[in-house]
Amino acid sequence: MNENTRQILVTSALPYANGAIHLGHMLEYIQTDIWARFQRCQGHECYFAWADDAHGTPVMLRARSEGTSPEELIDRLNEEHKGDFRDFGISFDNYTSTHSEFNRQIVEKIYANLDAGGHIARRDIEQLYDEQEGMFLPDRFIRGTCPKCKTPDQYGDSCEACGSTYAPTDLIEPRSAVSGSTPVLRKSEHYFFRLSEFEEPLKEWIASGALQPEIANKLQEWFTDGLRDWDISRDEPYFGFRIPGTEDKYFYVWVDAPVGYAASFMELCEREGLDFDAWWGPDSKTELHHFIGKDIVYFHTLFWPAMLMGAGFRVPTAVYAHGFLTVDGAKMSKSRGTFINARTYLDHLHPDYLRYYYAAKLGPGTGDIDLSMDDFVQRVNSDVIGKVVNIASRCAGFIGKRFEGRLSQALPRPDLMETFLAAREAVAIDYETRNYQSAVRRIMALADEANRYIDEEKPWVQIKQEGKADHVQAVCTQGLNLFRVLMAYLAPVLPFTAEKSSQFLGTDVADWSRLDQPLLGDTLNAFQPLLIRVDPVKIEAIIEASKESLQPSAEPGPEPEAEAFDPLADEIGIDDFLKVDLRVARIVSAKSVPEARKLLKLTLDIGNETRTVFAGIKSAYDPADLEGRLTVMVANLKPRKMRFGTSEGMVLAAGPGGEDLYILEPDTGARPGLRVT
Ligand code: 2FM
Ligand code: ZN
Repeated sequence: MNENTRQILVTSALPYANGAIHLGHMLEYIQTDIWARFQRCQGHECYFAWADDAHGTPVMLRARSEGTSPEELIDRLNEEHKGDFRDFGISFDNYTSTHSEFNRQIVEKIYANLDAGGHIARRDIEQLYDEQEGMFLPDRFIRGTCPKCKTPDQYGDSCEACGSTYAPTDLIEPRSAVSGSTPVLRKSEHYFFRLSEFEEPLKEWIASGALQPEIANKLQEWFTDGLRDWDISRDEPYFGFRIPGTEDKYFYVWVDAPVGYAASFMELCEREGLDFDAWWGPDSKTELHHFIGKDIVYFHTLFWPAMLMGAGFRVPTAVYAHGFLTVDGAKMSKSRGTFINARTYLDHLHPDYLRYYYAAKLGPGTGDIDLSMDDFVQRVNSDVIGKVVNIASRCAGFIGKRFEGRLSQALPRPDLMETFLAAREAVAIDYETRNYQSAVRRIMALADEANRYIDEEKPWVQIKQEGKADHVQAVCTQGLNLFRVLMAYLAPVLPFTAEKSSQFLGTDVADWSRLDQPLLGDTLNAFQPLLIRVDPVKIEAIIEASKESLQPSAEPGPEPEAEAFDPLADEIGIDDFLKVDLRVARIVSAKSVPEARKLLKLTLDIGNETRTVFAGIKSAYDPADLEGRLTVMVANLKPRKMRFGTSEGMVLAAGPGGEDLYILEPDTGARPGLRVT
């Protein structure tokens, strides 16, 4: 370490512990990881620590609907998430959960300091309460008709149809999405963080250049609107940390989530012997950089720095927001198969492909990024394979077969090497400023030059000519040295390919300080193909698998006592039956489809998601009678496009039809999401 060595802690936003990681999440983690790896390539001391965001109502309810405890659920997902990240080459130094003792300790300290400083207020508020479930309802768990445009079945905080935002109490005919019952207003005492007391220090912090210009502008608007107190408490039942000094109040998940950044780092400090206070104390000389999505800017640029200021901790050096991911120009969609889980991608394709594609699209701003599947295949194949990997394969063959793996003693075109090394600073600035697309453009322009050089020299022709062997060896040595520089520049983006290249070349390509010494006279290791072309068939497989991602897992069901025999149906084995994913569903809403004689449009809650199903039961039911009732649905039926929309499953009903038709209802006590076995 010298005086130029920076000490840097980077974080990504913490994924919720109640769901799988998808390619939208990966955009951020890859963006963060490229930055962290780049810093390490420069020789800086850079750590990447983050965690699962484990608390809150959705986690609690999902665990309940799975018949498990929140602790069991978050532990299981933590393992899954970590596996996904490792396999995508995310170089995290620590990955933990916000449900940890370190986190509790720091949250309590921050809260105690804020309270002692007079920054916490207490007052009663009224909220919607589900009497059947005995719980206050978060906005997202209340559905009703939009007060502005009158579209039915909207969330408690905003309308998807007209985009307006409102209080849940403004909804027309609100219903609890947990039980389907009509909630009532109930009073309770809440704790508030007085954000407005931090307006001046926040303005100073923003002036330090911690934010992208568009985010800084957005904050000006928020200041103009006035900063309001932030409700930081939630009543029981809640999965979270209890507020010290209370019996039944918990910290709102967004209080302890960002503290998870510090807690994860504290865990790392314990393990590696680092000094936590030197990194998180108020006078810290180290850097703290947060990468987040643009939807959570408010939390990271107002609440979080203000909490740190009020509690006597350091503030972030920078917060970088990125845009959303679209796939083939549209929001990710389960029915189109573009809602792709990280694991589904990894089952079919190499992680470096996606890392490259994201890098080629990411700039420093907050614009959305489109993963266009055709462009992905074309770009990876033509750039990574066609331009970069190709240089190594073209040259390695000759060096290996004709020169026993030995490189020449001199470069025939040192000037070309100079050109490549001269780009180092510009590429570094691009990475540092998160302009990865610019870095990639520069690197590919160099790759074009390297290929032009080899094309002009035509070693495959010269090798057949008398007396040209030494020259061919020198040309290939030149080619491999150029490849090495390209790979060094791409190492933050393509860690797996860089690692393989390091093994082949016998030098760590990720260490940029070594680049000034070309590889001359060395004997190389055996060449292994670095990366193969993307096969477009794999893309189709991913899309197909994502359409079916609701298939039940391969868990065996209970053993039958005896194989049942139904004289009315063809015999099937238990395996066939287990392929059908039957779930208990709550009919959240039922509407007649005016253009269809038989159809009702049902909105079904199956625990962790909502489905739309068109069911042919109009002749037997008045839609209003169905709302709030439980039934059973086939959850893994291929979505079917109909004239009125897509039907995402099927509801079970018995009877010949007409009025003589009956939906199946589970016994009392069953909950949405329970699997029928
Ligand atoms: O929006 C989200 O997915 C949150 N789980 C992010 C939390 S980031 C940080 F504050 F913990
Ligand atoms: Zn509306």
